[in-house]
Amino acid sequence: MTATKIAIIGAMECEIISVKQELIDLKEVVYADLYIFTGRIKDNFIILSKSGIGKVNAALNTQYIIDSFKPNIIINVGVAGGIDSCLDVGDIVIGTYLVQHDFDVSPLGYAKGYMCIGKEKDKPTKYYCDKNLVEKFQNLLEKSISKNKIHQGIIASGDQFISNKKIKEEINNYFGALAVEMEGCAIAQVATRNKIPFIVIRAISDLADGNLSKSHNEFEKYSNVSSQALKLFLNKMYN
Ligand code: ADE
Repeated sequence: MTATKIAIIGAMECEIISVKQELIDLKEVVYADLYIFTGRIKDNFIILSKSGIGKVNAALNTQYIIDSFKPNIIINVGVAGGIDSCLDVGDIVIGTYLVQHDFDVSPLGYAKGYMCIGKEKDKPTKYYCDKNLVEKFQNLLEKSISKNKIHQGIIASGDQFISNKKIKEEINNYFGALAVEMEGCAIAQVATRNKIPFIVIRAISDLADGNLSKSHNEFEKYSNVSSQALKLFLNKMYN
């Protein structure tokens, strides 16, 4: 297989640290307060970024990485709140498509989540993950993680940490989403506009109901679930 340029974006240090530790020829690029690391895993060139939390940070990072490094694929990794009853803390969600749950121009007659792009004004705008990458990731994970802990489904992004049962149920019911987080759809939107295949892989750190563990160690533990999965993918898929 020819060498691939893979961009990996996580919002927080704990979401990218274990991939950073794997990088050979590690280098740091600092631009406009963005912290981007480059290096290799096997023969592939990795661009690793700690984007910061939220959709604007994530979008800014993604476009900078695309312009500067021209990646072949983009992977967003990290934690998420589980909002569907099928999920438990520690499970993994592989996104099928992404929506923005806080994008709302419904007073103008559009569906909530419709981003004023595309013809279907009565539906939320969907950004589809690359089907091939989703399947590959699923097959690989099934070899090391129990199948009932791996889920494929809709991920909803917004600039809010969801910690309320009523709001979580509203997002689950309206969008059919399994999980909520704060960057995935921004990365998906930028990747789609630039015609670059992407996937979003999230480990469930909490159930978005206000019972979040205050312990930072817990958050790190679940961040590690998704980055361990990613490491497996990078080492096995692209060698
Ligand atoms: N990331 C992890 N848990 C989350 C939550 N409950 N809401 C939004 N983003 C999250």
